[in-house]
Amino acid sequence: MKILLTGGTGYIGSHTAVQLLNAGYDVVIVDNLVNSKEDTIDKIKQITGKEVKFYKADVRDAEAMDKIFSENDIEGVIHFAGLKAVGESCEKPIEYYQNNLDSTLTLVDTMRKHNVKKIVFSSSATIYGIQESPKYVETMKRGTPSSPYGTTKVMIEQILEDVYKADPEWKISILRYFNPVGAHESGLLGEDPKGIPNNLMPYIQKVASKQLEQLTIFGNDYNTPDGTCRRDYLHVVDLANGHLKALEKLDGSENGVYIYNLGTGNPKSVLEMVNTFKSVNNIDVPFKFGPRREGDLDEFFADPTKAEKELDWKAEKTLEDMCRDSWNFAKNAMN
Ligand code: NAD
Ligand code: WQD
Repeated sequence: MKILLTGGTGYIGSHTAVQLLNAGYDVVIVDNLVNSKEDTIDKIKQITGKEVKFYKADVRDAEAMDKIFSENDIEGVIHFAGLKAVGESCEKPIEYYQNNLDSTLTLVDTMRKHNVKKIVFSSSATIYGIQESPKYVETMKRGTPSSPYGTTKVMIEQILEDVYKADPEWKISILRYFNPVGAHESGLLGEDPKGIPNNLMPYIQKVASKQLEQLTIFGNDYNTPDGTCRRDYLHVVDLANGHLKALEKLDGSENGVYIYNLGTGNPKSVLEMVNTFKSVNNIDVPFKFGPRREGDLDEFFADPTKAEKELDWKAEKTLEDMCRDSWNFAKNAMN
């Protein structure tokens, strides 16, 4: 079965490409490389020993998308492509709405024209906004995210639901990721953002490798056991496997829109993350406490019960695995 991955040279897309190829799927990738590099394709081939077809194109380019669907017998799509930096989206809301919404609309329009009506979409825990409980369940209503980035995810979920309402031949799986971290155990794939990272794990990696002097932990007076925020970190390879399960499930299900949280259900604090990274890698990560970051919540984490029951998916890797694999990748990336 041939699957198109939009944004497939990115962090989560590349790991998913590996898992799909290993499971016997054919993979086609389209990416405009705005936040990834073409040599990722070689790395995917190196890990799997399999071929991948790559198109350097913007998903908003209807002609390019039409060509991809004409040249390949695509049966389903996993839609990763999007801009994802929370802070940047507050400074550039127009670019974020344009990129994330236009790419989705062009994609689903092209799919409809080619009669491909199976899609898995990368959504985010950010769509929950602030809820009464920090344990997010799929039955909770979508909330108000803290950024335009998050709002694009709310809007795209709504768009996909409307697409299904208008044409019940669609099979749609919406995956709400919590905090993906870690890297492929080969050390070839991982997350290496340009410039100063916003997210915790890439920042820790840069401090450990002495590219940045020290980590600032944003706040230690939160209502959590050690005062630092707690999040549901999950290993990117577990997350990638969730996409396989979601695709398999769509094949065996009636048409419809299915929504799943992908997380471990076990929140960890910033301090736990830093201390685990230090101990499993035997390396120093100097840090100081600073003021809270605007928009951060004390804690939130997944109720992963639905994915466990319906997808037969469970995050298996530990915080130790996440820290070890992240550092293994970061060391490789420096050489
Ligand atoms: P990433 O930036 O590594 O990957 C996204 C890829 O999409 C990049 O390779 C980028 O070049 C490509 N892209 C962006 N706009 C495009 C366009 N218009 N046309 C073609 N390619 C385009 O990000 P990631 O962490 O792999 O995230 C993948 C998806 O998962 C995104 O939609 C993101 O919003 C979502 N998500 C990520 C996280 C996270 O913490 N990493 C959490 C929840 C949801
Ligand atoms: C984690 C914790 C920070 C950096 C974001 C998006 C979310 C989703 C995942 C896409 C927080 C603390 C961080 C630092 C720190 N992405 N921290 N010092 O904010 O939970 O989620 O990524 O959908 O939508 O908002 O992740 O990695 O930025 O932060 O103390 O230098 O680490 O305060 O508690 P976050 P994060």
